[in-house]
Formats: sequence, C-alpha cells, structure tokens
Amino acid sequence: MGTLFDHLPDSISIYEVGPRDGLQNEAATVGTVRKLRLVEALIEAGLTRIEITSFVSPLWIPQLADASNLAALLPPRAGVTFSALCPNLKGLERAHDAGIPEIAIFLSASETHNRRNINKSIEQALEVFRELLPVALGYGMRVRGYVSTVWGCPYEGPVDPRRSLVLARTLIELGCYEISLGDTIGVGTPLQTKEVLDVITSEVPVEKLALHMHDTRGQALANVLTGISMGIRTIDAAIAGLGGCPYAPGASGNLATEDVAYMLHHMGISTGIDLERLWEAGRVAEAILRRELPGRVHRAGLRSLKG
Ligand code: HMG
Ligand code: MG
Repeated sequence: MGTLFDHLPDSISIYEVGPRDGLQNEAATVGTVRKLRLVEALIEAGLTRIEITSFVSPLWIPQLADASNLAALLPPRAGVTFSALCPNLKGLERAHDAGIPEIAIFLSASETHNRRNINKSIEQALEVFRELLPVALGYGMRVRGYVSTVWGCPYEGPVDPRRSLVLARTLIELGCYEISLGDTIGVGTPLQTKEVLDVITSEVPVEKLALHMHDTRGQALANVLTGISMGIRTIDAAIAGLGGCPYAPGASGNLATEDVAYMLHHMGISTGIDLERLWEAGRVAEAILRRELPGRVHRAGLRSLKG
C-alpha cells in the first residue's frame, strides 16, 4: 500500500501572506515603515513570493489603507514577486498605479461568508471578476485566485467541495494562473483534505492549486502534507503564524511559515528559504507588533538547547 511519502517532491514554493493576511487582522494598525521592515526581513529570508497588502476598501480593512504608500517604498528585488489582494476594478487600478505585478482576487465557496466579506453574492463577485480579469491581464499582471471556506464556513458549516470545484474551474477559465484553496477557519482534517482535493483535481490540474491553511485547530501541517502527497506544490503561509479574516469569526492564524519550512527542510524538500533568517523575520514581526506570536518554531526556536 502506498504511503504519504511515496511521491515527495524536490521542492515546494512558499507563498508568504503574513504582511497581508496577518496585518489585516491585527487590532492595531502597523505603520508603513514597520511593514516595510517586515517585508525586507522576509526577502532576506529567501521568500520570493510575498503578498504585501490589499487594495480593498479602507472602510472595510483600515489596517491596510496605506497599500499604495507601502508599494512605493518596496525595494525592487530580482527574483521576488510582490502581490496584493484586490476585490474589484478600483482595487485593480490602485494596484496597477502602484506598480504591483501580481494581484489576487478572492471569493468564498459559501454564500454567507462571501457576502460578509465582500458584500456581494458569489455570482455578483464572478461578474466583477469577468470584467476585471481581461483588464488585469491586458496590463501584463498575473492574477491569482483564492477560494475561501472550502473546508467549512463560519456561518453555514460544511461546504460541498463541488462548489469549490466549480469556482476554481471558473477562475482558471477566466485567466487565473493559480487557485489557492482556503481553510479560512482551520476546521479541515487530512482525510477531508484528501476528499476535497479528489473532487477538485478531477477537473482542475493539481499544478494549478495551492493550499492556504489556517492552523486554528493544529491541523494545518497534516493537511499540507496530505496535499503534497497528492501533488500540491505551492503552500501559503504567514510568518510566525500571523493571520485571520476579520469577516470570519473564529479564524485565527495561518500556518506559520517557519513551521512549514522547518518540516520541509528536514524532509529534504527545498524551499529556497534560509531557516535562520526566517526565524529572524519572525522576531521582526513580533517586534513591529509588540506582542507574542503563535508559530510553533517561532516560539521554540530551530533546535533544542543540546543543539
Ligand atoms: P462595498 O461597501 O459594498 O462597496 O464594499 P462599494 O463599492 O459601495 O464601496 C464602498 C466604499 O469603498 C466607496 O467609498 C468606494 O469608493 C470604496 P466612498 O465612495 O463611499 O467613499 N472602495 C474602495 N476603496 C479603495 N479600494 C477599493 C475599493 N472598493 C470600494 N478596492 C468591497 C465592497 C469589496 C469593496 C469591500 O467589501 C471590501 O473591500 N472587502 C474586503 C474585505 C477583506 O479584505 N477581507 C479579508 C480578505 S479575504 C481573506 O482573508 C481570506 C483569504 O485569506 C483566504 C482564506 O483564508 O480563505 C484570502
Ligand atoms: Mg487567509
């Protein structure tokens, strides 16, 4: 019988969401210069895909109202792609003006979370994206898509994976290069992850999928390993376990970047990340937020005292 370890890859791409998914959920707004320090620390650690902010309504997410200012301060770095969350054409124009090369559009597999998060039905959101994608692609931008609440909705409970399949397929058809499947409230378990991916990969190539797991119930790494054993090669993570969606009650931190990088490195799977520097980036996150952060490796360190 095959095991989880039969088809491990040589490398995995880590997509860092801490500056966006993390800082959107902080009670206190972090100043732009402190955000920049965090992004620089992430680059130093070797991360090459960093979602730095959101061009959403500042009335909805005031913590990221400085998106354009932050983008203007970013150090151009060869090999590093900065991306930003974007809900509509207004956000697209702001991202384009700010010189952001990649945007991420987002919607939920459950109606209620979708409405609470972007004030639209799923169908209305798709209408916006049908209009937005050709403009973004015409600007030469890459567009990533998120499907949220795939493993469960804070308002509706269980979500049929076939709903996520239809949305993932539609977003790919509209021109997204990758779909990130979100366990927004961290309810999924490994067997459910297998079931969800069996359904979605029946029509969407696994190379086009990423996993975006929240570690609310300590299941994120187990779900990620399940996904990797099924061919997933991109994992979203947030430095030191920052994160959550303000419109998903009960959503806590994302899978910590240090935790997934530690696991992969010690399994001989490369990520391009320097673990020591990544750990330092977690310290920067803690310093700029002035509070303790939950990531396990962040808290325990990279090795035991005996070394
Ligand atoms: P609305 O209130 O229905 O929209 O919000 P509106 O079009 O009526 O606009 C309201 C005001 O916002 C207007 O301002 C617009 O101009 C302005 P006013 O004219 O009244 O002064 N506005 C904007 N301003 C700047 N940039 C924009 C923009 N759009 C409108 N892009 C809207 C609809 C979608 C805008 C709003 O609901 C919104 O911004 N929602 C974003 C919420 C959000 O960011 N949630 C967290 C991210 S999702 C997540 O975390 C999940 C994920 O991590 C994956 C996972 O974990 O599963 C991705
Ligand atoms: Mg998230």
